[in-house]
Amino acid sequence: MANVFSNIGAWVTERAPGMMPMYRAHMTEYYAPKNFNLWYYFGSLALLVLVSQIVTGIFLTMNYNPSAAGAFDSVQYIMRDVEWGWLIRYMHTTGASLFFVVVFLHMFRGIMYGSFKKPRELVWLLGMLIFLALMAEAFMGYVLPWGNMSFWGAKVIISLFGTIPYIGNSLVDWIMGDFLPGDATLNRFFALHVIALPLVLLLLVVLHIAALHEVGSNNPDGVEIKKGPKGNRWDALKPADGIPFHPYYTVKDLVGVGALLLIAAFIIFFAPTLGGWFLEPDNAIPANNLLTPAEIKPMWYFTPFYAIVRMIPSFLGSAVWGVLAMFGSIVVLFLFPWLDRTKVKSIRYRGTGYKVALGVWVLAFFGLGAVGAGVTAEVIPAWFGNVDVTTWENLFGRLMTLLYFGFFAFLWAYTHFGWEKTKPVPDRVTTHD
Ligand code: HEM
Repeated sequence: MANVFSNIGAWVTERAPGMMPMYRAHMTEYYAPKNFNLWYYFGSLALLVLVSQIVTGIFLTMNYNPSAAGAFDSVQYIMRDVEWGWLIRYMHTTGASLFFVVVFLHMFRGIMYGSFKKPRELVWLLGMLIFLALMAEAFMGYVLPWGNMSFWGAKVIISLFGTIPYIGNSLVDWIMGDFLPGDATLNRFFALHVIALPLVLLLLVVLHIAALHEVGSNNPDGVEIKKGPKGNRWDALKPADGIPFHPYYTVKDLVGVGALLLIAAFIIFFAPTLGGWFLEPDNAIPANNLLTPAEIKPMWYFTPFYAIVRMIPSFLGSAVWGVLAMFGSIVVLFLFPWLDRTKVKSIRYRGTGYKVALGVWVLAFFGLGAVGAGVTAEVIPAWFGNVDVTTWENLFGRLMTLLYFGFFAFLWAYTHFGWEKTKPVPDRVTTHD
């Protein structure tokens, strides 16, 4: 058998001499720092979820009908009549939410260990483009089952463009292709969701990993292994603190894969709606332009950003400020490499001010999520009795918005004016023995 493989290998190499060297450069001779921890699972897990979404998406597309008259029923047909259709659909809906769980953790890892800093700014920027594409992909996918939240969600989100002065209203009609979300909207969202955006995502992911492999991975100590001593068990010229990605990290990543599959299986088989967080009850009702849901709220992963749009009052006679703030809350993430000026990468060796500020920022993000998901509207009367919910919710939401943006202002000032007292960074990764 081994002979057959080596013969095939030789045959391919003769015809495409660059193929094996490419495999080696990215797998067996890609030296990754040997101190990766749990946080480093999420890149490969994001890849796994991406592939799973594409595969389950292909099977859903086989029975889905992208028309306002047929979409809702075709999803019911998939759930009830198509062999294993329910499994495919629950894998896809659960995968969508888990994608964001994994990507949020992956981004947070990058922030904690300063992986966006020189020389990895491009890796970060490509990651942020992936994040934007992922948000567009998730939003359009959500519209496809043509439930009542699909319809109203599409209407509310597309209408945000209507706040742009002069061109807003025409832009809304142009995006919808109609005066209300309808066949035209559904058709174009279907095309974008199943073809255009997955292709963009795949391309961006390839560029993201290629850019990372040019400079090499960061690690929990934030030290550059390429600048450290040379010579390891496999290669005298390669970093002493590096180990081959394959087989060491491919095997390690399998543990993460097992854990994620277990969690996913639990949700898919025992709690596919996860209490309304992964599949919203209002979307089990067919789209109806005469029946506005009691509360229009997006999926949980959009709620922090959606809260910001709601929390900024419309002043100067325009609601565009809220929309700008919402876009700003995403755009500011692109700027991480330029707002954080400290040379020390990992949180392990950074000042207390940074650690506290980062903690507060994460809490503000959750706080905004709670506002956007309508949790605060339920919790405030339950905890504080007969108070004016809107006033208190606005107060809380605006404080969280201030803390969210305030973090970036603080980060810039704290690191720009040299207020941060960092700890000495070791020369090598801390687990090099
Ligand atoms: C489909 C989504 C994504 C996939 C499949 C993906 C994949 C990967 C993979 C495989 C790695 C190398 C392994 C690792 O370090 O965990 C990586 C590293 C990295 N990713 Fe992503 N990524 C995605 C989204 C993002 C996003 C949204 C960001 C941030 C905006 C991001 C920022 C980074 C950074 C900074 C690194 C380098 C980490 C380090 O060396 O410490 N990625 N990504």
